[in-house]
Amino acid sequence: MRVDELEEIALRCLPPEVSEYFNQGAFAGLTTSAAPGAWDRLRLRPRVLRDVSCVSTAATVLGHEVATPIMVAPTALQRAAHPEGEVATARAVAATSSLMCVSSNSGSTFEDIAATGVQWWLQVYIRRDRGLTLAMLQRARAAGASAMVLTADTPVVGYKRNAGQPATDVIPAEHQRVNLDAIGLPQSALEHAADVGPDDIGWLHEVTGLPVIVKGVLREDDARMVAAAGAVAVWVSNHGGRQLDQSITTAEALPAIASALSGTGTEVYVDGGIRKAEHVLAALSLGAKAVFLGRPVLWALAAGGDVHQGGRAGVAHLLTELTGDLAHVMALAGARNVAELSPDLVG
Ligand SMILES: Cc1cc2nc3c(=O)[nH]c(=O)nc-3n(C[C@H](O)[C@H](O)[C@H](O)COP(=O)(O)O)c2cc1C
Repeated sequence: MRVDELEEIALRCLPPEVSEYFNQGAFAGLTTSAAPGAWDRLRLRPRVLRDVSCVSTAATVLGHEVATPIMVAPTALQRAAHPEGEVATARAVAATSSLMCVSSNSGSTFEDIAATGVQWWLQVYIRRDRGLTLAMLQRARAAGASAMVLTADTPVVGYKRNAGQPATDVIPAEHQRVNLDAIGLPQSALEHAADVGPDDIGWLHEVTGLPVIVKGVLREDDARMVAAAGAVAVWVSNHGGRQLDQSITTAEALPAIASALSGTGTEVYVDGGIRKAEHVLAALSLGAKAVFLGRPVLWALAAGGDVHQGGRAGVAHLLTELTGDLAHVMALAGARNVAELSPDLVG
């Protein structure tokens, strides 16, 4: 799977404001552009003379069985990539037995996403208006979300440099944040609460009864802190480089976090710049139970060129091809299943 080709096709199909929104990073974009290269720089140490006549990519995350550890990260404005947006993504994820994390800022309703039969988690931004947040959590729970993913790296939204108009100004309002009932509320109610703390992990669990994952962790001390506060999983992420520029890449941050949590039962996931099966192989070997794709899914949704049709077919193609490539590189590395991926394969 050539994700870079997919990106090229998608960028030709999208209005300039939307491609800028999808691809941009915070400030100078250093962290965004460093991400894929950091995975590329890792070196693999394949095992030989293993019987790899049967290779399986099946995995388990928080007890959910999935056919692939390659999953979909939460991204806003999917309906700017394709009219069916998150519903098209969900159909593809359901068809490939993967899992999807739905953004708080989704442009499709939780009910429409859930109707596809997809396994999904809700990504949570806690707003200044906690009542508004709570109503959204309850709506997601009622629709069938099976975990809450608290995004911890966005107390304020990182500044971006826009060449033109921001995408949110050119996308119809009915394609944005449709699960938040903010009618009549001031804009400030929608702003992110800047005082979110470890106690909110317990709060999220208490009000939803669902397991809580914390997304946006880059340090071992934070990983231990959120696990001690009740998080069942830590999601290593720098938000695709859209928050603090010059943040450490996730390829660099993952090993220390995975070893800090090793043996504790707290699961580790990672995203950021994952574009190839070798990147997935390295991430899983370094201790991640799953990897999540952000921009590649947006590109797959948008790509209306000859090879990919975009929408559901585009996302299904991306997930299927990358999973097929993963099985191939696992065979080359002498690993029959994800349990056989261990840190000695990297280095
Ligand atoms: C256009 C765009 C919108 C995003 N929206 C959200 C969001 O609503 N919530 C969130 O937690 N992360 C959001 N993210 C971050 C992704 O979940 C993920 O961490 C990141 O995109 C992974 O890096 P990658 O794009 O290199 O795969 C967004 C990323 C992009 C590119």
